[in-house]
Amino acid sequence: MRSFDQASLRADFPILSQEHQGKPLVYLDNGATSQKPQTVLDRLTKFYTTENSNIHRGVHRLSQEATDAYERGREEIKIDLGLPGSGKSSHELIFVRGATEAINLVTHGLREQLQEDDEIILTVMEHHANFVPWQVLAQETGATITYIEPLEDGSLDLDVWKAAFTAKTRVAAFTHVSNVLGTVNPAAEMVRFASEHEVITLVDGAQALPHGPVDIGALDPDFYVFSGHKVYGPDGTGVLLGRRELLNAFPPYQTGGDMIDIVAVEGSTFREAPSRFEAGTPNISGGIALAEAFRYMRGIDWEAAHEHEVALLAHATEELEKMEGMKIFGKTVGKAPIVSFVLDWAHAHDVGQLIDTANVAIRVGHHCCQPLMTHLGVPATARASFAFYNNHDDVEALVAGLHKVKRFLS
Ligand SMILES: Cc1ncc(COP(=O)(O)O)c(C=O)c1O
Repeated sequence: MRSFDQASLRADFPILSQEHQGKPLVYLDNGATSQKPQTVLDRLTKFYTTENSNIHRGVHRLSQEATDAYERGREEIKIDLGLPGSGKSSHELIFVRGATEAINLVTHGLREQLQEDDEIILTVMEHHANFVPWQVLAQETGATITYIEPLEDGSLDLDVWKAAFTAKTRVAAFTHVSNVLGTVNPAAEMVRFASEHEVITLVDGAQALPHGPVDIGALDPDFYVFSGHKVYGPDGTGVLLGRRELLNAFPPYQTGGDMIDIVAVEGSTFREAPSRFEAGTPNISGGIALAEAFRYMRGIDWEAAHEHEVALLAHATEELEKMEGMKIFGKTVGKAPIVSFVLDWAHAHDVGQLIDTANVAIRVGHHCCQPLMTHLGVPATARASFAFYNNHDDVEALVAGLHKVKRFLS
């Protein structure tokens, strides 16, 4: 493991040395997508220059090498997430396009298992990806959804959440970390409580894994999902970790090549997970490069990275709170380095556009969390979200940029 030399880690991300009109890039939209280290970019190039071929079905050397790299990647990611390799763990790793597809795969799989009046528990801080698929599932099956609202500071009232469980509760889906509030939900306690009540759990880890490894083996949810592009890997990659027996009871999500056992004119039979859910040619280079991103993350001293992110968050919060008309949403202790805010003198969209002229990239809008925006009573917020490669100059640039926006608007 490398010591946490922030400047040298930052230098691993070529895009961060980019300038626009003489101004350095200040990238504070990591919640939307992360930047990629050179090793991940090199891995993609290496695949296409020396290994490119289709996997699982070729007998020639290239195909076997690509298959090995892809399957080795699957194993390595599992091990990094605290799950033993193939056949030995209770969970299978399915490569998908991202967290959204992973959740859709699960809700599709549950269509035949839920029935009228079954209950699903969600929170109001969910991203639409962990909201809409459940709504569709409820419409299709006649199940009902109970929504738990966050408290004033952005935390979940666990007593209220637990009290929502009834004899009819079948599923509890919740985000590990809120992409707007930064709240880190007590996933271990929630999974434990749900499994004591024999309720299926789905944890959306899209905003958790970018800030360090999660021991999913110890957490032991039924399903855990995340997106590759938020963990320093390529777009169009993602992971569904699911309990094997639950997955194998699901009907296939898509059908076609690679997921079949036997195909005959009389009908077809399907393989077990993970192949069961990986129909057709997958994103081979993406899966291999995602494993490279995990290899990169393995080299980071996450304890030191966490301390650094906490310091960035404290610095940003302190400076932003000094600004006139500032309101920050999400004030839980130990939150992820995400600051969502509104200013009473400007619309979030104007803030986002004007600060971009200083080459400071932040996110503005509803962040795919419209129910949460309604709960907070705002149409949109501005959001600065940090990664370990950000530094205190980035925070200063954010604050200076906001002051410039204020001067411009007045
Ligand atoms: C908490 C959370 N869940 C799910 C998603 C959806 O991820 P993707 O669009 O990569 O599928 C996001 C994306 O911002 C997110 O922040």
